[in-house]
Amino acid sequence: SEKSSIGNSMNILWHECPIQKLDREHLLQQKGCVIWLTGLSGSGKSTLACFLSRSLHSRGKLTYILDGDNMRHGLNRDLSFRAEDRSENIRRIGEVAKLLADAGLICIASLISPYRKDRDACRALLPNGNFIEVFIDVPLEVCEARDPKGLYKLARAGKIKGFTGIDDPYEPPSSCEIVLQQQGSECTSLGDMTKIVISYLDKNGYLR
Ligand code: PPS
Repeated sequence: SEKSSIGNSMNILWHECPIQKLDREHLLQQKGCVIWLTGLSGSGKSTLACFLSRSLHSRGKLTYILDGDNMRHGLNRDLSFRAEDRSENIRRIGEVAKLLADAGLICIASLISPYRKDRDACRALLPNGNFIEVFIDVPLEVCEARDPKGLYKLARAGKIKGFTGIDDPYEPPSSCEIVLQQQGSECTSLGDMTKIVISYLDKNGYLR
């Protein structure tokens, strides 16, 4: 386990405190977990994260958003968009998300997280169903047509290298808790997407 392998190899001991996750969850009347929003740039991850946070907040639930863009202003400011750096970005956000979930919060992580193995590594940090992966399935053409930050245009012009979906891969989840589709007749509104995620939390006992 994490505790024993670190303790054994580096003589660092794990300190337990009698106040544990369950105690904090009892205070908050919710179950700490991570809602992991993954999808292409422009798929609407950050907007959905805000909708979710607002809706849960209005029900008296404590949430916190970890947004890829925002994290890259601080904790992850040293990381580029090379594959190794994206993996490290995702690893660090996964570790912070784990701490927030342990604190009893409903943590909403919103980052492209394009590589399946990195998302699976975060899932492994949060066993017992506490990692809820939500794929915002918006086709590249739709994201590119939206191009809210003008980045697809720059990527197509070769002014940004290694842009997800253009010349860097996005690996969709092979299985995940929730898929939200935004395509043609399958189009789901933001309000409906919010309801789908919240009803999942309700059904699975995260909101008490
Ligand atoms: S990742 O892949 O998970 O590490 O990316 P993330 O931390 O979510 O950051 C994605 C945002 O950074 C902007 N941006 C890029 N995205 C993809 N590829 C490249 N090369 C790139 N360069 C900058 C972009 O605005 C992403 O924001 P979102 O909110 O996803 O549109």
